[in-house]
Amino acid sequence: MRQSLSLGALVFLLPLATVLSGCSSGTQTSPMIQKESVTQLPDGTPIDLYTLRNTNGMEARITNYGGIVVSLTAPDRNGAYEDVVLGFDDVEQYMGPHPYFGAIVGRYGNRIANGRFTLNGETYALAQNNGENALHGGRNGFDKAVWQAEPVTTDEGQALRLTYLSPDGEEGYPGNLSVAVTYTLTDDDALRIDYEATTDKATPVNLTNHSYFNLAGQGAGTILDHQIQINADRFTPVDGGLIPTGELRPVSDTPFDFRQPAAIGLRIEDSDEQIAFGGGYDHNFVLNGEAGEMKLAARVYEPTSGRVMEVHTTEPGVQFYTGNFLNGDITGKGGTAYGRRYGFCLETQHFPDSPNKPDFPDTILEPGERYTSTTIYRFSAE
Ligand code: GLA
Repeated sequence: MRQSLSLGALVFLLPLATVLSGCSSGTQTSPMIQKESVTQLPDGTPIDLYTLRNTNGMEARITNYGGIVVSLTAPDRNGAYEDVVLGFDDVEQYMGPHPYFGAIVGRYGNRIANGRFTLNGETYALAQNNGENALHGGRNGFDKAVWQAEPVTTDEGQALRLTYLSPDGEEGYPGNLSVAVTYTLTDDDALRIDYEATTDKATPVNLTNHSYFNLAGQGAGTILDHQIQINADRFTPVDGGLIPTGELRPVSDTPFDFRQPAAIGLRIEDSDEQIAFGGGYDHNFVLNGEAGEMKLAARVYEPTSGRVMEVHTTEPGVQFYTGNFLNGDITGKGGTAYGRRYGFCLETQHFPDSPNKPDFPDTILEPGERYTSTTIYRFSAE
């Protein structure tokens, strides 16, 4: 069973910095992955913070609580590094309420209508944690799980392998699901995320990461001036509860046409019913190219810093979410109140509500199969 997290009962330890060698042989000179102890659960389960660095100077800090990317730096056109993801200064703050900042999302990222689906003749009831719908794996999704962490050094760069066993029936989902998520900070300035899962009963699986980006630096204001290009000829229009209608609608002549780069803010207030339903962009785009093959999902450019982020994925879709629900209530890093549209998310995924949409690409993982998914967020500047 998942550890229950009672903040009051947590034993706070003095931060204790330890350094783990990423390699087993003492003769190798590969750089070190730093591990800092944040706190521990009453049963002694550690909550730690790992710092990955690449050879160019990029840094990613990741905690085993929710597999959250706490910070991620990227250089601007003058080589100045800035943290480009929203979040908190203290890892303990992620244990309180927040909108999935940096987290691994599962067992099923995005929405399942009415929190119900039928599989092999059985109807499963999930927590309805978003109106009548199920969102992002339920009340205690993978974003609140404590993962086992193992630092590793690969040919590509420093990596953190996180594993979690989601028990049969957790949040209403069938089957013991064994999950591994590996974050690699590559030496070509990318954060690569490899997801794997196996199950002992058929279950829907849709894993993603929910980082909020601002390429001008987190806390720098809205993301409306960022230029985005999305490699999608179609998107999945939704109803008022943000459940796809089932249609794959062409983006042409809509505010969803990002086949050529355009400012995020250009059409975000259009009098378009889909924009109104999302309060801006909060939609799944149907990526061009083959599902299962690595392809460009999106490219984002921030004009003042020159930072560029390219997203590549094996997934068939990406949720483009423009932080429409941020409203200044959350005080993030450095005391900044995160206002509306202070960050954007590109959540690579299968389409929302697929367990109830037989025509959408299948999300059911069967025993004996292996779920795999890879997403790469690559940074540069121009
Ligand atoms: C996803 C959803 C949004 C919102 C955020 C979290 O991106 O699609 O509607 O729920 O997560 O606030």
